[in-house]
Amino acid sequence: MTLLPDAATVVHGRLVLAGIDAEDLAAAHGTPLYVYDAVTLRARAAAYAEPLASVGGRALFALKANGTPGVLRILREAGLGADVASAGEIAQARAAGFAGADLVVHGNAKGDDDLAAALAAGAGLVVLDAPEEAAALAALARARGPEQDVLVRVTPDIVVDTHAKIRTGHAGSKFGLDPADALALLRGLPAGLTGRGLHVHLGSQVVDAGPLRSAAAWCARFCAEAAIAPEVLDLGGGLGVAYSPGEPGPDPRAYATALTTAVPAAFAAAGVPVPQLLLEPGRSVVATAGVTLYRVRIVKRTSAGTTWVSVDGGMADNPRVALYDAPYHPLLATRLDRAPTGAFAVAGRHCESGDVLAWDVPLPDPQPGDLVAVPVTGAYHATMASNYNAFGRPAAVVVDDGAATEVTRRETPDDLLARER
Ligand code: LLP
Repeated sequence: MTLLPDAATVVHGRLVLAGIDAEDLAAAHGTPLYVYDAVTLRARAAAYAEPLASVGGRALFALKANGTPGVLRILREAGLGADVASAGEIAQARAAGFAGADLVVHGNAKGDDDLAAALAAGAGLVVLDAPEEAAALAALARARGPEQDVLVRVTPDIVVDTHAKIRTGHAGSKFGLDPADALALLRGLPAGLTGRGLHVHLGSQVVDAGPLRSAAAWCARFCAEAAIAPEVLDLGGGLGVAYSPGEPGPDPRAYATALTTAVPAAFAAAGVPVPQLLLEPGRSVVATAGVTLYRVRIVKRTSAGTTWVSVDGGMADNPRVALYDAPYHPLLATRLDRAPTGAFAVAGRHCESGDVLAWDVPLPDPQPGDLVAVPVTGAYHATMASNYNAFGRPAAVVVDDGAATEVTRRETPDDLLARER
């Protein structure tokens, strides 16, 4: 049960989210349905915001993990800024009430539209990924007037233990610049840009603070050797979450607190003034707040031994299984107190065999019409959802203290046709 949100309970074997029976949520809003628990969102946001604020730093929520304005408003109120990676994410952040100064703008191939949106919003920082981008941003900034504060993204060649597709800090990454190139860019910024420091992001679903401590020590040595003193050090995001029962769930507060001491210690040891620390958590803020509800449509036994439990969603609302072999643990929302009757494969409704939500999950006699709840689905689900097979993307609700607020309406066939000419 540790995979469920903070305000989830089980009452007579039924899943209750923030005081609301999961069946009532499904009846009122349909399935598949993304459900986000406000208590978890606030607690995870505060776990980063408070330790960082105590040392004059800041945590910025990475919108790529969840860009739902109804979720972002809660995170903003809990003290987070926003890490955005496109004009679209800037629009989502602004819709949720983030001020321009709260934004740090990313991207390895930003377009003029993204850069112009950053300037128009008054973004606090733009993180430069290449000299061409510096030139383009500088030209736009000079045309507008005020100088734009920037960081330069450096690649320290630290390889983290995670899926290769979400590793970024290694030499040869498409992100950031080799150390010598980063230094040259920082030293030779075009007029219109003010260099404030460095950015590093090692990768995602990293389960402890060790790699970021190494990154802090690497940056401190790099600054000492180059005789530079950045005002800001942004160490990116990356803390993972438990997706499987029994996996240890990393603790964001302990992690953030560890970094608030590791960074000053590393810079003091290198004889470099201590920079302001920024972190950009995504997954570890929102993943465990999310539960996706599905309705079972078909239960089919095969001669090969697999029993398929086919639900009314799948790889369009959760592409993470197909992309990363991510492990999920579906539950039967109304029979949590019943012993499993076997191991089942939970399939999606999309037209390909790789559309599977979980391959081998113990469930108590699943039947058509049952409600399936998949925990730990708050990060990189809604933001990576597609319209494969022209299914509309799910609705989303935020649950809080007995109330459910629909923050995203379900997509309709008319929505899908609205862009066609
Ligand atoms: N900052 C930067 C510059 C990033 O590129 C990312 C994630 C983050 C912060 C947030 O990282 P987090 O705390 O969420 O690990 N779609 C993949 C994850 C891709 C992460 C990309 N960058 C997944 O579903 O696992």
